[in-house]
Amino acid sequence: MTRVFSGIQPTGETHLGNYIGAMRQYVVDQHHHESLYCVVDLHAVTVEHDPEVLRERTLQMATLLLAVGLDPEVCTLFAQSHVPAHTQLAWLLECTASFGELRRMTQFKEKTATGGEGAARVGLFTYPVLMAADILLYDTDRVPVGDDQRQHIELTRDLAERFNGRYGPTFTVPSGFIPEVGARIMDLQDPATKMSKSRSSPQGKVLVLEDLASVAKKIKRAVTDAESEVRYDPAAKPGVSNLLSLLAVATGGEPAALAERYEQYGPLKADTAEAVVELLRPVQECHAELSRDPGHVAAALTRGAERAVELAQPVLERAQRAMGFLR
Ligand code: TYM
Repeated sequence: MTRVFSGIQPTGETHLGNYIGAMRQYVVDQHHHESLYCVVDLHAVTVEHDPEVLRERTLQMATLLLAVGLDPEVCTLFAQSHVPAHTQLAWLLECTASFGELRRMTQFKEKTATGGEGAARVGLFTYPVLMAADILLYDTDRVPVGDDQRQHIELTRDLAERFNGRYGPTFTVPSGFIPEVGARIMDLQDPATKMSKSRSSPQGKVLVLEDLASVAKKIKRAVTDAESEVRYDPAAKPGVSNLLSLLAVATGGEPAALAERYEQYGPLKADTAEAVVELLRPVQECHAELSRDPGHVAAALTRGAERAVELAQPVLERAQRAMGFLR
């Protein structure tokens, strides 16, 4: 059976891009493949953080993943720090990766663009290697992610192939699964850049748990362009195309076909706002219910970690043996 793995950081507040580009795929995949989903709390300390907030957000992210529809009886949901094999394998892969290839990672370059490399934590630099360890540890075939993770998936494949070439067949070489529509939800105020937890302004991003009236308002005020033609053309018309992608995902349609139904931006914005509100409403209701019983979520994470350890340990040992460690 195909094995699926994906991870999501418990930093900032989860936005529509995370939901549409990634979480939505998790929910579908869990019913078709053997699936593991990980709240990557270790990745969250690569930048400044508050320990109390990290604790809260890790549980919140797990709650949200259950609220969007993950079923802990069907998939394995766990916190990365509960499975020590992730950091153990990361070291072996750090000794497989080169300094140069990590330096080329776009996300590292972006995140150090303002503060400079000097002050960046070493963990921020080696972050993609830990991500590769997350994936390779489970003999993963398929990794559902948004478009911004493409380069990290490529690195994971390169590291797996290099390791296998040097030490003999050890890892499954995974493929990224990036949805055709919604893999890059753009900032509502600056549609040339992606919607981002850290970089988007409050008006530019829609949070999954945001008040629904505010969600509708933000979408209706989304930046489009000076023309009035409704056309799906992400390069030339990023704002309008972003709205069409949101509408397509929320209604199950296809962006180019939906564009033909509209002659003006106003009705497109109104319909998109309504569709996104209806997409988020059941998630918010379920989240409110689950939040009343945090013990239930914590227990699901504990069970998930037990299962993850069972799967990860043999793969870690396989890699250790291949690399020459006494076992
Ligand atoms: P993170 O936590 O930043 O984002 C979680 C997921 O959301 C997707 N995403 C988007 N999709 C569409 N439009 C957007 N504007 C948008 N913004 C974010 C991301 O592509 C991602 O799929 N490095 C990863 C976490 C990670 C991971 C892993 C993922 C760690 N280990 C192993 C897969 C497998 C990250 O920072 O995602």
